[in-house]
Amino acid sequence: MKKISFKLGLLFFVFVLGVEIILFVSLYITLVNSRIEEEFEHLLARGNNHRDVLEKNFDHSTLEHVTMMESEAVTDVVITNEKGNILYYSDDILPFAKKIVNTMDRTIPHDGIIVQRNWQKESHIATVSPIRIDGKIKGYVYMFQNTDAIQKMIYKLKHHFVLVGFLSVFLTILTIAFLSKVITNPLIRMKQATEKLSKGDFSVRLQVKGEDELAELGEAIQTLARDLEYLKKERKEFLASISHELRTPLTYVKGYADIARRPNLKEEERNRYLSIIYEEAENMQKLVKELFELAKMDQHSFQIHKEPANLCDFLKKLHDKMLPAFHEKNMSLIYKCEKNITVQIDQKRFEQVMINLLDNALKYSDEGSVVSIEARAEKNSIVIIVSDNGIGIPEEDLHHIFERFYRVDKSRSRTSGGTGLGLAIVKEIVEAHGGTVYAASEYGKGTNVVITLPEV
Ligand SMILES: Nc1ncnc2c1ncn2[C@@H]1O[C@H](COP(=O)(O)OP(=O)(O)OP(=O)(O)O)[C@@H](O)[C@H]1O
Ligand SMILES: [Mg+2]
Repeated sequence: MKKISFKLGLLFFVFVLGVEIILFVSLYITLVNSRIEEEFEHLLARGNNHRDVLEKNFDHSTLEHVTMMESEAVTDVVITNEKGNILYYSDDILPFAKKIVNTMDRTIPHDGIIVQRNWQKESHIATVSPIRIDGKIKGYVYMFQNTDAIQKMIYKLKHHFVLVGFLSVFLTILTIAFLSKVITNPLIRMKQATEKLSKGDFSVRLQVKGEDELAELGEAIQTLARDLEYLKKERKEFLASISHELRTPLTYVKGYADIARRPNLKEEERNRYLSIIYEEAENMQKLVKELFELAKMDQHSFQIHKEPANLCDFLKKLHDKMLPAFHEKNMSLIYKCEKNITVQIDQKRFEQVMINLLDNALKYSDEGSVVSIEARAEKNSIVIIVSDNGIGIPEEDLHHIFERFYRVDKSRSRTSGGTGLGLAIVKEIVEAHGGTVYAASEYGKGTNVVITLPEV
């Protein structure tokens, strides 16, 4: 049997049975001993009583009277003189009594002693009390009790113990069977759930009750299932997006290539088509590059090497690098920076972040508008804001723009070559630096993208 409930139950059972046996045996022994001790005390007290009576009147009629009393009782009496010769006795106790009386030594305390203890093997137990009158020993009162009654009583006790023992073992088995089922049931359900998970079925739903470790485990499996389900869905969507993203430029490339290879085409037209093909190929190259970048980030094989840098110098260089592109579109790029802000950044990666943001500001703004880069140190952080007064982002899209392939206006972005991956990359890199990024925008008025980095 490999079942955990069985193993657990067996283990419990062995332990509980062990404890039960120890308890029962010790209880039985104490009970038997105290009952037998009681019998001895009782017999001795009875002998002492007779002795007391005889010490007062040691005459024939009292002796007879004592003997007669015992002949009616379950106990028996033998009275001897000081030399151990039997004077009086009740019933047919003689053969056994003689044996006891003869083997007796005569120094006995006044309170009497037990002379035959062996209730298991002998036919009788016996006590003796000395009769002392005026400081002289006059004789002895021997008391006897048949051990049949004691043995019967012990037998009954044993019988009861066995009965109760069986009953408690039975109840133990029932309780343990129930308990081990209760304990192992959630485990079994979890095992089944993980088996389902390993087979790719993420629709696992575990009912989690209580707040113990088992409930926590159940909760963890449930969360794992949900995460895996989400990942599976995301991967599916991601693959669908990639194939969609590649299909469109490929259709263009194929279509224009088909036209371009026609023999009777004018040189000028052919060149136009070829440059479209070139542009589309460039877009695809960019897409593949960005995807590769994101894939690296997902695998955590992407590493950033943070180094202290002067933020203003860094942004100034960027500003100078990007300015020609802005001028080309008749736009201005303003740069504001508090002096001497030191940041811990991977300059190459962070340049990618800034270029993506400035590229967006450039792409999604009209000619002649103004874009600014601003950096300042706040309480415990450093804030960099790229703001434009371009087309803005509708409120309902604002939450999504950092998702992969998300574009507000699909057709517009296509013509301007956007893949919808730029901000996703920005987010990954900023978070890898321990910072956060968000966008605030008003549709038609402009957009602010705010990066917050932890202070050095
Ligand atoms: N400054 C901005 N003003 C208006 N809309 C913006 C701005 N920045 C981003 N967006 C919107 O968010 C979308 C996602 O931006 P993201 O940079 O991720 O992709 P993209 O610019 O379309 O493509 P890529 O950056 O990969 O070339 C854009 O398509 C655009 O609709
Ligand atoms: Mg972009």
